[in-house]
Amino acid sequence: MQLLEMVVNFDPAIEVFLFTGDYSTASAVEAIQKGAADYLTKPISVADLRARVGKLIAEMKLKRETFQLEEKLVSSFKFQGMVARSPRMLEVFSTLGRIAPHFRTVLVGGPSGTGKELVARALHQMSPVARGPFVVCNCAGVPESLAESEWFGYVKGAFTGANQDKLGLFEHANGGTIFLDEIGETPLSLQAKLLRVLQSHEIQRVGSPLARKLDLRIVAATNRDLKQEVREKRFREDLYYRLSIVDIKLPALRERKEDLPLLQRHFVEKFAAEYGKNIVGISRRAQNVLSRYNWPGNIREMENVIGNACMMSDGPMIDSCHLPSELLRQNSSDSDSSMLSLEEVERKHARRVLEMVGGNKAQAAEILGISRSTLYNLLDEVAEGSSAKSS
Ligand SMILES: Nc1ncnc2c1ncn2[C@@H]1O[C@H](COP(=O)(O)OP(=O)(O)OP(=O)(O)O)[C@@H](O)[C@H]1O
Ligand SMILES: [Mg+2]
Repeated sequence: MQLLEMVVNFDPAIEVFLFTGDYSTASAVEAIQKGAADYLTKPISVADLRARVGKLIAEMKLKRETFQLEEKLVSSFKFQGMVARSPRMLEVFSTLGRIAPHFRTVLVGGPSGTGKELVARALHQMSPVARGPFVVCNCAGVPESLAESEWFGYVKGAFTGANQDKLGLFEHANGGTIFLDEIGETPLSLQAKLLRVLQSHEIQRVGSPLARKLDLRIVAATNRDLKQEVREKRFREDLYYRLSIVDIKLPALRERKEDLPLLQRHFVEKFAAEYGKNIVGISRRAQNVLSRYNWPGNIREMENVIGNACMMSDGPMIDSCHLPSELLRQNSSDSDSSMLSLEEVERKHARRVLEMVGGNKAQAAEILGISRSTLYNLLDEVAEGSSAKSS
């Protein structure tokens, strides 16, 4: 096991077979977690070994090919700087393509770090006013007392200190797009003013009786559930209806796992280039860790994790030692087998093998070397065990 670690540490791209005369499920699990490609029990026939090595070589070839294929995919799905291949995101892309030429107001929802600002910029880029300004207005950041003059500007003499006329953000965005970020945090008094702008496309500088007509596109973003905010009287219903004529929802990263490999590759490429390093991929054991994590901070979190890993890595691969400790901890608390009973380890191992063969019970039973009924027994207990845990 130590040698395995040394080899994988030396070069994470090396594939390792472990042989043992003394099979235990616990050490099989440990070997796989540490990055072994396979774990075999002695005695081994040469024919069997040849078959397995052949299979591994075929797998590596396939991996190289998918790697190249993925590279193509990354570029074909690079939609205005956004990378995705999941059905839900492809649907978002097609909606964006359809509305970009025509929209006046769009609401973009989704948890933090899912790409709402990227969507806003993409909409602007694909709109007829792409050459016009794109102005970010953070609805949560401005103190209420200042917001009106920040947003709408003021005229000379409007208040003490107003020595000259000043344009607000909305007027700066004239002829382009204004991005109203965190719209759900807007204080109620300002919501009324926003509504007026949305309805009339006019603003009034503070201290001026004059209404000025603006030609604006509006993209608003929020990570709150605005309908819920309306129900709880924190958000005006009329403003909500005005904003949500076109309503785009970005799914959390854990709801679009198909995007993980593409995003990982995208960020590895991006940061390798940025740091001038020759990093070509992610080791097997690091990939294990990344795929088991559930990314509460979504794409921004993944970007940070891969960015840091690229900074730390000196070799051609990102390895598990380059990942933040909380990712490793979450993984090992989930699957650390050192303090479990043998029975629990068997159950966990069965579940993992079943996952790896895509739920095919006959195949899993064959790999595990047990009868299908024994596997069913094991899995029933899995179901009981996990529901007891989650309740
Ligand atoms: N599909 C994607 N492909 C590539 N990069 C992405 C994608 N989605 C988001 N990102 C990147 O992730 C980071 C977060 O995206 P963004 O700022 O748009 O999220 P957000 O939804 O506005 O987050 P918050 O709610 O926290 O403001 C950005 O650096 C962005 O470039
Ligand atoms: Mg944002």
